[in-house]
Amino acid sequence: MDVAQAIAKRRTVRAFGQEPVNEATLASLVEAARCAPSAANLQPLEYVAVNDPALCQEIFDCLKWAAYTHPVGTPGPGQRPTAYLVACVRVEYKAVVGSAYDLGAALMSAMLLAVQEGLASCWLKSINAPRLTELLSVPAGLEVDSVLALGRPAEEPATVDLAKGQTGREVIRYWRDQNGRQVVPKRPLASILHWQRHGGPGAPGQA
Ligand SMILES: Cc1cc2nc3c(=O)[nH]c(=O)nc-3n(C[C@H](O)[C@H](O)[C@H](O)COP(=O)(O)O)c2cc1C
Repeated sequence: MDVAQAIAKRRTVRAFGQEPVNEATLASLVEAARCAPSAANLQPLEYVAVNDPALCQEIFDCLKWAAYTHPVGTPGPGQRPTAYLVACVRVEYKAVVGSAYDLGAALMSAMLLAVQEGLASCWLKSINAPRLTELLSVPAGLEVDSVLALGRPAEEPATVDLAKGQTGREVIRYWRDQNGRQVVPKRPLASILHWQRHGGPGAPGQA
C-alpha cells in the first residue's frame, strides 16, 4: 500500500476486531510518530503503549466516543480497541510553541502506518486525563493529551461531500445511515482549493 492509498483508506473507526496488536507493531507506530516534524524541533511528545487486555479495558472506561451520534458509535463489548497509544506532552515545552501541531503531525504518521499494517484507529481528545495519568503512572512534568485507540477495523465508514441541510446550514456532523454505517461529510476539494488567488477562477482546465 502506498501513502496515497493509506490516506484515502484511513477513517476513524469505532468497532474493532479482537486480535491483539503486538509490541513490535506498536513500536513501529511510535517510530513513525518520532520521525514527524516538530516546531523548533522541541519534540515534546512521549507515548505510553498499552496492549494488556485488563489495562485496555481500564483505558476504555476513560474515553468518550462519537459525540455526534452518542450513544451509537461507542464500541460495544467485543468491538473495543485492543491497543492504545496514549500521547503525552512535556509541559515545559508545551509552553514554548504549543504542542497541537506536533501532535497532529506525529499521530497522523502513526495513523497512516497503522492503515498499512491492517489496523484502524480513533484519535480521542475527550478523555479522562487525570484518571489516565494515575492509571498509567505518568510522572509530573508530562501531561496526558489524547489517546490513539487501535485495532483491526470491524467497520468501514464512508465519506460524502459535505452539503447544506434543510435549514441551509452546512452539515458537519457525521451520522449513521440506515445500515448503521458511519458516514463522514468532507468539504469538497473545489470548495477549499483556490488557484492563484482566493475566489479566483476555477481549477486549471475547468470552465
Ligand atoms: C484532535 C481530534 C480529537 C478527536 N477526538 C475524538 C473523541 O474524543 N472521540 C471520538 O469518538 N472521535 C474523536 N475524533 C475523531 C473525529 O470525530 C473524526 O476524525 C472526524 O469525525 C472525521 O472522521 P475521519 O477521521 O474518519 O475522517 C477526534 C479527531 C481529532 C483530529
